[in-house]
Amino acid sequence: MVKELLRSHSSVRIYDGEQLSKETVVDLIETAQMAASSHFVQAYSVVWVTDEAKKEQLGLLSGNPRQYETSGAAFVFCVDFKRLQAAGKLEGVDIVADSAENVLVGVADVALFAQNFVVAAEAEGYGICYIGGVRNKPEEISDLLGLPDYVFPLFGLTIGVPARRNEVKPRLPVGAVLHENTYDENYDEQLHAFNATMENYYSSRSSNRKIDNWTKQMADFLVEQRRPHIKDFLAKKGFTWQ
Ligand SMILES: Cc1cc2nc3c(=O)[nH]c(=O)nc-3n(C[C@H](O)[C@H](O)[C@H](O)COP(=O)(O)O)c2cc1C
Repeated sequence: MVKELLRSHSSVRIYDGEQLSKETVVDLIETAQMAASSHFVQAYSVVWVTDEAKKEQLGLLSGNPRQYETSGAAFVFCVDFKRLQAAGKLEGVDIVADSAENVLVGVADVALFAQNFVVAAEAEGYGICYIGGVRNKPEEISDLLGLPDYVFPLFGLTIGVPARRNEVKPRLPVGAVLHENTYDENYDEQLHAFNATMENYYSSRSSNRKIDNWTKQMADFLVEQRRPHIKDFLAKKGFTWQ
């Protein structure tokens, strides 16, 4: 049952506009909180953007205005060491928040928390889409949401009753991902096979058909440094990679 749900995931970007109740949101967040957390730091916070003007602004800043417009709720998931600083203060201790290790801990915590949220939501029939686009304008989004130092937006998430569902997207062959005892770099054959799978998927899916494959997509995507402003942004938030 859980496996079928996980295997049926596809991102949903158009919703019917029905708003999630506070009860539903609180229930999903409580469920998300049960994810494992590195050393139990629970280094996450999530901002539920209910103010229509702010939601519109968030949509514009993260580059998906239509998706936010139709969503039943919109969130920004953040790495949060501010609350841990407060915990330290209660104990008379200045915690060391600023470290590359803490950035990794925070990112892992937020991702597990968010994915628990997503699976719980999909089990209730909702559709979701993560929005890395919030990192296009992280300073503006921090200002919009009043995020203090030691708190930074990792990704957004829209959720709602799906108005349109996409076909399930194929994934890499398991052999390209699973290694036994030693990392195996001989994946060319698997990549060719996956390109054929993706070419077929892109040319036959019900909407946005195109001629494309995975290695070309990745090469185009990664040929240049992505979001070069992130390092300075994180430093401003207090994470200088010490
Ligand atoms: C952290 C993260 C950020 C993402 N950001 C965006 C985004 O900004 N816009 C978008 O349309 N999809 C976004 N996605 C969705 C991915 O494009 C999608 O998960 C991927 O293409 C696989 O498709 P599927 O989720 O339908 O299986 C994001 C996914 C993740 C995990």
